[in-house]
Amino acid sequence: MLASLVSRASVRLAVRTPSTSASQQQQQPRRLMSDKLFVHRDAGVYKDEPFEFTAENLTRAASIIAIYPPKHQAAATIPLLDLAQRQHGWLPLSAMNTVAKMLDMAPIRVYETASFYTMFNREKIGKYHVQVCTTTPCLLGGCGSDKIMKAVQKNLGVHPGGTTSDGLFTFTEVECLGACVNAPMIQINDDFYEDLTPETTEQILDGFRRGDRPKPGPQKDPATGKLRKSCEPVDGLTTLKEKPTGPGFGVRADL
Ligand code: FES
Repeated sequence: MLASLVSRASVRLAVRTPSTSASQQQQQPRRLMSDKLFVHRDAGVYKDEPFEFTAENLTRAASIIAIYPPKHQAAATIPLLDLAQRQHGWLPLSAMNTVAKMLDMAPIRVYETASFYTMFNREKIGKYHVQVCTTTPCLLGGCGSDKIMKAVQKNLGVHPGGTTSDGLFTFTEVECLGACVNAPMIQINDDFYEDLTPETTEQILDGFRRGDRPKPGPQKDPATGKLRKSCEPVDGLTTLKEKPTGPGFGVRADL
């Protein structure tokens, strides 16, 4: 029992130590590797940087806050954190504290929000944030997200949670991003790339590395050459093919 507690504690310590080697990281359970996404730890662990909203963003922030009734400004937490992150690239403690002050909230409430959503980065990230969805539909859909995870890891040479040494890419494993029909998919910055295969995933990453912005949305399957439009079935409609009936159909004989 004691040995198991000591061993668990040493795994946790290893997760918190930035110098953990790649082979050590590989041996850690996935849940622990992504633990830093969801747990807030104060300064001393994460680096802080000075943060102030620009004059332009202060105006934006004021109009966002004005949408909500007095005493309900806390509802502006997410849009303000998003504004701060778009300005700074990530969310240092000072940015979260600024938002807390503007909304008259306890800073911990803002930390809780920022640590709950994977869209917020409380550590410096690369220019391109590659978020791979591994929730059930992406795990099972198409070639499956396990293959996509491996393709990203191979192409970038870093494990989930890591940033490439050139600072270009940060690789994160996330839960459902809401494009389950076109599974498997990844998000890179604000764009979704869907219906992926290991091959198309690597082509997309290579494109970003060259400085291009590969076309977002569903990708053509290299094996079949098929490309779906939006989230329609790839081989055309399978249901709802008849002309829709009007309102009241089957209820009133005269309709
Ligand atoms: S499960 Fe991957 S987008 Fe929903």
